[in-house]
Amino acid sequence: MLIEFRHIEQQLRIAREQQLLDGTQASRELIRNLAHEIRNPLGGIRGAAQLLARELERPELHDYTGVIMKEVDRLQSLMDRLLTPHRLPKPVPLNIHEALERVRMLIVAEAPLGVSIERDYDVSLPDIVGDMEQIIQALLNVVRNAVQAVQSGRGAGRVVLRTRVVRQITLARRRYRHAIAIQVIDDGPGIPDAIRDHIFYPLVSGRKDGSGLGLSLAQTFVAQHHGTIEVESQPGHTCFTILLPVETGETR
Ligand SMILES: Nc1ncnc2c1ncn2[C@@H]1O[C@H](COP(=O)(O)OP(=O)(O)OP(=O)(O)O)[C@@H](O)[C@H]1O
Ligand SMILES: [Mg+2]
Repeated sequence: MLIEFRHIEQQLRIAREQQLLDGTQASRELIRNLAHEIRNPLGGIRGAAQLLARELERPELHDYTGVIMKEVDRLQSLMDRLLTPHRLPKPVPLNIHEALERVRMLIVAEAPLGVSIERDYDVSLPDIVGDMEQIIQALLNVVRNAVQAVQSGRGAGRVVLRTRVVRQITLARRRYRHAIAIQVIDDGPGIPDAIRDHIFYPLVSGRKDGSGLGLSLAQTFVAQHHGTIEVESQPGHTCFTILLPVETGETR
C-alpha cells in the first residue's frame, strides 16, 4: 500500500511539473514572437526621432525627441531580455558551490544592510555537468528575489543557501540515481496569493519595478539542464528548490 501511494504522489508531481513546463514554454514562445515584432520597428522609431531632433530649431522641443529615444531604449532593452535565452547550454563539469559562491559575492555586494546571507552547504556533493553562466544566472535570479522579498517585508531578515544530495529521483521523466538540491530559503512575507500559481510565467511580477522575467528565465535554464524548480511559500518562510541531475538518467 505504501509503495503504491508514493508511486501516485510521484506521478502527480511529474504531471504537475509537465503541465507547468508546457504552459510556460507556450507563453514564452508567444512572448518571443511578440518581442520580435515589437523590436523590429524600434530601430526605425529611434532613427527617425534622432533625425527629427537635428531638424528642430527650438531647443525645448528636444525634450520631446529625448523622451522618445529614452523610452525606445528602455523598450529595446526589455525586448532584448525577452529574446536572449535561446542560446544552447555549453556543458562542462562544474562545482555547484563555486557557482553559489559567485552568486553570493554578487548578492552581498548589492544586498542592503540587515539582510544576512547564510550558507548551509553539503561539501561532499559531486560535480554536475552544466553551463556555468546559465546556472549562475538561474541561481542569481532566485537569490535576488529572496533578498528583495526579505527587504520588502521587515527590511531585515535572512536568506539561507542550502545544498543537499538527493537519491533515486525522477526529473522531467528520467530516473536518476543522484541529483543535487539547491534550496534558497528566506523569512520574508511569502509569495502574494494572487500570483502564486503564475510566478514562473514571463512578465508576472508582484513588485512595482519588477519585469517578471527572473523566474521564467531561471526555469528555462534549469529545464535545459534537465532539472526542475519548485517552490513552497507561506508568510515567514519561502523555499525555492532547484533539483539538478548529477549523471545522465534512464528514460522512463
Ligand atoms: N522569495 C520570494 N518571496 C516572495 N515573493 C517572491 C519570491 N520570489 C519571487 N516572488 C514573487 O514572484 C514574482 C516574480 O518573480 P520574478 O523574478 O520572475 O520577477 P521580478 O522579480 O518581479 O522581476 P525581475 O526578476 O525580472 O526583475 C516577484 O515579483 C515576487 O512577487
Ligand atoms: Mg526577480
